[in-house]
Amino acid sequence: MSVIAKQCPEIKVTVVDINEERIASWNDSNLDNLPIYEPGLKEIVEASRGKNLFFSTDVDKAIDESDVIFISVNTPTKTYGKGKGQAADLKHIELCARNIAKVAKDDKIVVEKSTLPVRTAQAIKSILDNTGKGVNFEILSNPEFLAEGTAIEDLLNADRVLIGGEETPAGKEAKDALSSIYEHWLPKDRILQTNVWSSELSKLVANAFLAQRVSSINSISALCEKTDANVDEVSRAIGFDSRIGSKFLNSSVGFGGSCFQKDILNLVYIARSFGLQEVADYWEQVIIMNDYQKRRFAENMITSLYNTVSGKKIVFYGWAFKKDTNDTRESAAIYIADALLEEKAELLIYDPKVSEKTIYADLDYLNTRTPEENRRLLRVTKNPIEAVDDAHAIAVLTEWDEFKTYDWSLIYDKMLKPAFVFDGRRLLDKEEMDTIGFKYYKIGQS
Ligand SMILES: NC(=O)c1ccc[n+]([C@@H]2O[C@H](COP(=O)([O-])OP(=O)(O)OC[C@H]3O[C@@H](n4cnc5c(N)ncnc54)[C@H](O)[C@@H]3O)[C@@H](O)[C@H]2O)c1
Repeated sequence: MSVIAKQCPEIKVTVVDINEERIASWNDSNLDNLPIYEPGLKEIVEASRGKNLFFSTDVDKAIDESDVIFISVNTPTKTYGKGKGQAADLKHIELCARNIAKVAKDDKIVVEKSTLPVRTAQAIKSILDNTGKGVNFEILSNPEFLAEGTAIEDLLNADRVLIGGEETPAGKEAKDALSSIYEHWLPKDRILQTNVWSSELSKLVANAFLAQRVSSINSISALCEKTDANVDEVSRAIGFDSRIGSKFLNSSVGFGGSCFQKDILNLVYIARSFGLQEVADYWEQVIIMNDYQKRRFAENMITSLYNTVSGKKIVFYGWAFKKDTNDTRESAAIYIADALLEEKAELLIYDPKVSEKTIYADLDYLNTRTPEENRRLLRVTKNPIEAVDDAHAIAVLTEWDEFKTYDWSLIYDKMLKPAFVFDGRRLLDKEEMDTIGFKYYKIGQS
């Protein structure tokens, strides 16, 4: 919404949220306190906030005043009832729809920006049409394809914008209205119009395909470690094939983030609910492979550290699920930490952007042990170099650029010997690390 405000000065954009603390942070005069860290975001917020970009908790007023409403609430995996662990929980979406129906006095375009299971627009339309006051609502699907860490760049130079809507004259008019917003900065041929169901499904499919590439190369990384092949060389060799392409072929400790797992589980659930067992099993394997990669990494750490990590000090470099974001949802680091804590390791975590509060919340959420036990075994530091004093091992779990610039000889001197580094991001130079004297493990290489 900040990018839309910046690119369209004549449009008033109001972001509303029921979370007062979040809205207060979006309004904080210190732009370093915005709730999301994203390169380039604070500059964009600074340029428009108070002019045509507003953050508020007054949801009803914003609904009343707007022509177009983007529903962008969270759609997590259900943790209860039917579809638990797979289906998307649509309760926030439904609450929004009911609220819009209650408040709206004139016609609105309602845009699904959240990622939703195919055919959700039908449910939204039914709620709006049956509880509204004779107001006409056009429902559009406009899934978001940005990637965290490069969100601003992805929005400004989007490969494509997808707009799904009804194939009626009113539906077409609504699609054109939404398209005209994006046409402020994107060429028209990159704005694709489809029917609602294709648009909803395409978002799930896009994430499934992306995650599938990661799981595919990660499966090969395990094979490389057994065969003296180097996963980077394999990626490069296959990536040169223009039919395959080189992107999204970096092997790592496993994908994280709030979307990939949730969206694939959702796809699996939908396929299964239509009786398409083989389709569901096929996509579920992407998640199974990702879980395997995380488990394999943790198990390799334990085996390498002489089959016991009890009482050993292990430092994590990185907690965020990828660089240039403070988002930690489904981060591989959480699961590696959990596995090592089960073996009574003592962990010290450093991440340049993630707060101590978030790290403990991530661990407590798993419910594997008490919050007190988590705080006894795991600590968080703001000093990555001091952290390694007398450490047995370091695990590199996020690909933050700053880790490459560290004085690794100094780090080696401070650690207990043999000094182990487990590189889950293939970030460091193997030859250099070997020369310094580290026992260096780079995922995807024997
Ligand atoms: N994060 C991403 O990179 C990304 C990318 C593409 C799509 N998406 C999709 O966008 C949606 C939101 O994702 P997110 O990462 O921003 O989630 P989030 O949990 O960070 O934010 C959702 C916000 O919605 C607010 N909210 C919930 N119910 C509300 C209501 N009734 N009225 C007003 N506000 C309400 C919450 O307080 C919260 O601040 C999801 O469907 C996700 O799949 C996210």
